[in-house]
Amino acid sequence: MKKLLVCGITLGLICMAGVGFSLATDKGAADMTLQATIDKAKKAKPAIFPHGAHQERLACADCHHSKDAAGKRVAYVDGQKIEKCETCHNKQETMPKKLADYKGAAHALCKDCHKATDKKLAKCSVCHPKKK
Ligand code: HEC
Ligand code: HEC
Ligand code: HEC
Ligand code: HEC
Repeated sequence: MKKLLVCGITLGLICMAGVGFSLATDKGAADMTLQATIDKAKKAKPAIFPHGAHQERLACADCHHSKDAAGKRVAYVDGQKIEKCETCHNKQETMPKKLADYKGAAHALCKDCHKATDKKLAKCSVCHPKKK
């Protein structure tokens, strides 16, 4: 356990040295499994998401944004607080129907781009791998 901790700290320091100039920006995990927790489907259907690989190709602002006091979308600015999609995209909030839950918001972002890029990338199993 102790060894693991030291390892983690060392790795962290190496990473920090590597990104030196952008120390203040938390990039989040490189690989994620996304799962709705508020408006979840009866049968959970987690989605895999290689965050790091997308960050290499896309700008943070292509996916992240926030909202103002009136509930309007505000474009991403460097260093802003990044909240979970579901914090805003849930059925308690006043959102257009298509964006009113995690599934809707995620499909509108992820699936639409995948579809526009290559039909094969829009297959359900690309993001929702079949259980082995
Ligand atoms: C292709 C879309 C996409 C791009 C590009 C992207 N992200 Fe993300 N990011 C996400 C998604 C989706 C999540 C998971 C949000 C959730 O759990 O609801 C996330 C999560 C995060 C988190 C963790 C938030 C939390 O509370 O768990 C951070 C930090 C983050 N991103 C930073 C960045 C930064 C900085 C960039 C640009 C260098 C970036 N992201 C680029 C989609 C993206
Ligand atoms: C702080 C609140 C907030 C968070 C967090 C948030 N959104 Fe949004 N999002 C909004 C608002 C407000 C709109 C505008 C809704 C409308 O059209 O009335 C919006 C619009 C969108 C749209 C429509 C296209 C566009 O860009 O306007 C998509 C797709 C979307 N969000 C996906 C996501 C995803 C995926 C995440 C997580 C990575 C996320 N949102 C996080 C508030 C948020
Ligand atoms: C603006 C476009 C865009 C957005 C938004 C986007 N992706 Fe992607 N994604 C791509 C492209 C392009 C590839 C293929 C990259 C490659 O083959 O190197 C990809 C690859 C992937 C892969 C790996 C597929 C494979 O077989 O290797 C997964 C999984 C994935 N995306 C999930 C997601 C999820 C989940 C989201 C939303 C949180 C998302 N993507 C948002 C464009 C996008
Ligand atoms: C490009 C990635 C992507 C593709 C392709 C995709 N989804 Fe999703 N889907 C997501 C993400 C991200 C979520 C939100 C996180 C989660 O799984 O709860 C989601 C959520 C869902 C949910 C709600 C899951 C839950 O646990 O509440 C269902 C049901 C669903 N998708 C079905 C489908 C079906 C059916 C297809 C094919 C027609 C499909 N998805 C294609 C990314 C994708």
